[in-house]
Amino acid sequence: MAMVPHLRPVDPAPSGAPQTLIELAHAGVTFRTRTGEDLTAVEDFNLRIQDGEIVSLVGPSGCGKSTVLRMLAGLQEPTNGDIWIGGGKRRRGFSEVAIVFQRPTLLPWLSVLKNVLYPVRALRRTTAADRARAQELLEMVGLGDMGGRMPHELSGGMQQRASIARSLILDPKILLMDEPFGALDALTREDMQLDLLDIHASTGKTILLVTHSINEAVLLSDRVAVMSARPGRLQELIDIDIPTPRTHETSAHPAFHDYTRRIRDNIFGPNARSHA
Ligand SMILES: Nc1ncnc2c1ncn2[C@@H]1O[C@H](COP(=O)(O)OP(=O)(O)O)[C@@H](O)[C@H]1O
Ligand SMILES: [Mg+2]
Repeated sequence: MAMVPHLRPVDPAPSGAPQTLIELAHAGVTFRTRTGEDLTAVEDFNLRIQDGEIVSLVGPSGCGKSTVLRMLAGLQEPTNGDIWIGGGKRRRGFSEVAIVFQRPTLLPWLSVLKNVLYPVRALRRTTAADRARAQELLEMVGLGDMGGRMPHELSGGMQQRASIARSLILDPKILLMDEPFGALDALTREDMQLDLLDIHASTGKTILLVTHSINEAVLLSDRVAVMSARPGRLQELIDIDIPTPRTHETSAHPAFHDYTRRIRDNIFGPNARSHA
């Protein structure tokens, strides 16, 4: 991996100050395509995320959002720059990270409860405490009485809820979500957006959410990171200064529209047709 000389570890936070849990410093990924050309997906990407924040990543399709998430999940090595994950001086605290994809990816031959327990089972034998925790997580995502069902007996939204429960079973500090509600119908999506806020309130997880919904980004986030078209760079980082807890009433907040318009202008240009 190429090293950049001015890299330094995350500064330890003074006690009481929020701790930086994720840092990307000049991070970049260049792929070698099958025809032998270099394709730079992400370039000189800089972002710090504090413990407990919800940050959304938005940008045009193909701008490198998933690549950023994959770097933070340890699924893609940065080809430039560096990343620090999990706090302190750890560079690669991937054990602190869980990822939720657009598709639920449950194992069809295991019950819902066993799917939630699967990450534990991959490490060691499960205990009664693990099973109790899995049940608690199912209750938190509204599937308390579904543990014995098989995945195909659940709706898409319920399967995605089970995936979210599974992502939390190893108690990661960081939840990476790649368009987690993108495959759901609009009503289920609205429901799950608020449920995610409840999960955040009850667990304090740090959440980095990729979404192609600008409204969703503004509704859910403390900050929205807007990426430019490929090669994806961080174009603008916007603090969403709208009171919490957010609800669907939040979209009627006077500042809401200003934020969505600012993000839309940033992505499409101020003179573009309205892209609702
Ligand atoms: N493994 C890969 N090999 C080659 N190109 C890739 C690979 N993964 C992603 N890309 C390319 O990198 C760019 C960014 O991809 P991605 O991060 O998936 O974008 P987004 O999630 O923002 O839509 C795209 O042009 C995509 O085709
Ligand atoms: Mg993507």
